[in-house]
Amino acid sequence: MSPHRSAPAPALAVVGATGAVGTILLQILSQRADVWGDIRLIASSRSAGRVLAVRGEETEVLALTEDAFEGLGAGDVVLFLTPAEVSAHWAPVATARGAVVVDQSAAFREDPEVPLVVPEVNGHAVRSRPRGIVAGPDCVTAAMIAAVGALHAEYGLAELAVSSYQAASRSGRAGAEALRRQLTQVAGSPLGELPGDVRRAVGEDTGPFAAPLALNVVPWSGELRADGWSSHELAVRAETRRILGLDSLPVAVTCVQVPVVTGHSLTVRARFEREVAAAPAREVLEAAPGVVLVDDPAAGEFPTPADAAGTDPAWVGRLRSSLDDPRALEFFVCADNLRKGAALNAAQISELIAGEFA
Ligand SMILES: NC(=O)c1ccc[n+]([C@@H]2O[C@H](COP(=O)([O-])OP(=O)(O)OC[C@H]3O[C@@H](n4cnc5c(N)ncnc54)[C@H](OP(=O)(O)O)[C@@H]3O)[C@@H](O)[C@H]2O)c1
Repeated sequence: MSPHRSAPAPALAVVGATGAVGTILLQILSQRADVWGDIRLIASSRSAGRVLAVRGEETEVLALTEDAFEGLGAGDVVLFLTPAEVSAHWAPVATARGAVVVDQSAAFREDPEVPLVVPEVNGHAVRSRPRGIVAGPDCVTAAMIAAVGALHAEYGLAELAVSSYQAASRSGRAGAEALRRQLTQVAGSPLGELPGDVRRAVGEDTGPFAAPLALNVVPWSGELRADGWSSHELAVRAETRRILGLDSLPVAVTCVQVPVVTGHSLTVRARFEREVAAAPAREVLEAAPGVVLVDDPAAGEFPTPADAAGTDPAWVGRLRSSLDDPRALEFFVCADNLRKGAALNAAQISELIAGEFA
């Protein structure tokens, strides 16, 4: 073989191609520079035979079986956009063939042998993957970590307090559909009787949410853990520490669901080792990859999830110096939970891996 002959483009298998994240991933693959050879789409047996468009080509969805990985090997990437139990079972099947797995579920995020990666912050970590698996973080962590990471690099992060205002599609297709159903159910209720009528209109079936989400705010996301914390809150704390390499960083998180279909919002209070003023912090954020600053409240300019949905960056606004602590900043972040929170981050990680074999 000629020493100048380039390696064939790696194959990409997308497991969970029919889900909320998978649907966006297929759009992203059609929009970004194409580094892939064969792309195969995989989902549950319920979806086998469906035809989806990717890169302008009609592609049939395969059922997730051993046969679906036939022909994949070293240099190829298998992307899991599936529930954690599906990733946990099938990722080792893909790595046994020599392919690298990129998993967007919670299955491997706490495994010390699986790097947890947001390319703008710790892309270098992709290269060290003893199990052949790379994980992407929770969508709340992903929304803020590029901005927080850039400020940490400049001022040294000492403490973080975060509240999320999470979109319904964090719970996948089922979450988005439940919110749409509930909005229809409450639409006919007389305004004067709301919100008392919301529970009556929605009934017992609140979908994946702990209470009706239409015209409501639900301070719960995930499963109950010790002392009243939720699994999602503890995940954001643990992932932030891991990605920034700050093992004992104090992090307080409150996760809240709001009736938005797509686009997470967060309020962030960050305290640093050094004093920080708002003006230089703005410059840091303006230069940060993956972050866009929209911060002119006098002109009514600040990010909202309606603006962030369908876009790639984390949008930061409402940046203020703390009134009480010269080392602290307060700000607001919005990001598309299906893009930077999941599909885009997974695509970026996969491209880094593809680049290793180019
Ligand atoms: N939604 C978000 O904002 C977000 C953000 C970050 C991370 N994540 C994580 O990303 C993953 C996917 O989330 P999603 O929101 O896209 O969920 P989703 O809309 O419910 O989609 C789930 C996908 O997994 C497939 N699947 C389910 N059970 C399967 C099985 N037994 N075998 C094979 N495929 C199976 C589904 O295929 P069928 O269509 O055939 O059922 C579908 O393609 C989850 O782990 C989630 O926690 C989601």
